[in-house]
Amino acid sequence: MTDVAPAPLFTDDYWRDPFAALGELRERGPVHEVDLPEGGRTWLVTRYADARAVMSDPRFVKDFRNTLPEEQRASVPGIPSPGGEMMLLNDPPVHTRLRKLVVKAFTVRRVAALRPGIETIAASLLTGLPGDEPVDLVAAYAIPLPTAVICELLGVPVEDQDAFGEWSRVMIDDTGEAASMQANASMSAYLAELVERKRAEPDDALISALIEVSEEGEQLSTNEIIAMAMLLLIAGHETTATLITSAVERMLRDPALRDRLAAADSDELRAAIEEFLRWGTPIAQAPLRFASEDVDFDGVVVPRGAMVMVSLAAANHDPARFEDPDTYEQGRDTTGHLAFGHGLHFCLGASLARLEAEVALRTLLDRFPALTAGTDLPVERRRSVLVNAWARLPVLLDGER
Ligand code: HEM
Repeated sequence: MTDVAPAPLFTDDYWRDPFAALGELRERGPVHEVDLPEGGRTWLVTRYADARAVMSDPRFVKDFRNTLPEEQRASVPGIPSPGGEMMLLNDPPVHTRLRKLVVKAFTVRRVAALRPGIETIAASLLTGLPGDEPVDLVAAYAIPLPTAVICELLGVPVEDQDAFGEWSRVMIDDTGEAASMQANASMSAYLAELVERKRAEPDDALISALIEVSEEGEQLSTNEIIAMAMLLLIAGHETTATLITSAVERMLRDPALRDRLAAADSDELRAAIEEFLRWGTPIAQAPLRFASEDVDFDGVVVPRGAMVMVSLAAANHDPARFEDPDTYEQGRDTTGHLAFGHGLHFCLGASLARLEAEVALRTLLDRFPALTAGTDLPVERRRSVLVNAWARLPVLLDGER
């Protein structure tokens, strides 16, 4: 029997163990209305099969204007700029046009060419870190690595990268709406200025390429370029940092796994990363969608116009899809995990994220094979509905404690 009472999900229990809290909800039924910590409510989809279906079902849309009757659509402002121009927040045909413009920069082949640059960044971040006192791996390695990679890809100068990391952390964390809007405004003002600089002095990075495309007659406004750069920054670094951190956290709790991966060949390491993606699910809940009509889930109706979130974490731990799902199991068949989403919005940066994680773990384990925890585990999770992350992860690089 499905229990449809609104469920208090995001409580202390959730932050202690999101998978247990989500598991209970999934047991109770396929969709639930839950309160969001920052206010408001959303429906949450918990089962693997439904999660996959929702992400490829055109009845679930990103732009909520599409859920309104035709005659009212033009009269609502929609998502404020520059968010409104992000492909992640749009449906076809706008989404299709924007995605086509950047997809070439993220093909497996283009991404593979970035490997030497990523190896250099990883090695230089580890150089000079103390081996015998706790180092916060999140701040020293997991965050700056993908930030540097995406900034390089876009053409953001090195000296501005710390500011990016901070703006984006504030925007993703539940730090309150005022702080988040302020960070959003700072980042978009910075990017507007950067686009002007690139117009005057183009380079061979992505922002210049997008400017060139728009000057060749494609319909790409300055706001759309800013939105694209912002999306890539936000989508590309916190997530990858979380994947790296969750892999290391798992190894700190299981030195045999650490030793095994330190000695692993590329295939085994890549397989481990897929299991870290499934088991840790860096994006716990995929960003919002809206129901454009009433949709029935096993007798529970999500009404037209309702906000809907897909819990990728719940789906990736659904025992109907993965046996013994809460256990990290090296070598299991992870095919079909939903950590990168599914359907039209499937993660554009999936190959890049996989490569960054592989290089990050390989470089770390080569340099510090005896790495251990620098504090009691588990460490506290960040209070973010979207990312399944740790605020900090102290490690002793040379081991012992
Ligand atoms: C979309 C996960 C890394 C760029 C998504 C979505 C997920 C996801 C679940 C779908 C969201 C939805 O359907 O609402 C992840 C994870 C990552 C990661 C777990 C790291 C482990 C990256 C990187 C980049 C990136 C490195 C780029 C540099 C994007 C973009 C979208 C997206 C642009 C929107 C695609 C669209 O709307 O068509 N990602 N991502 N992601 N991701 Fe990632």
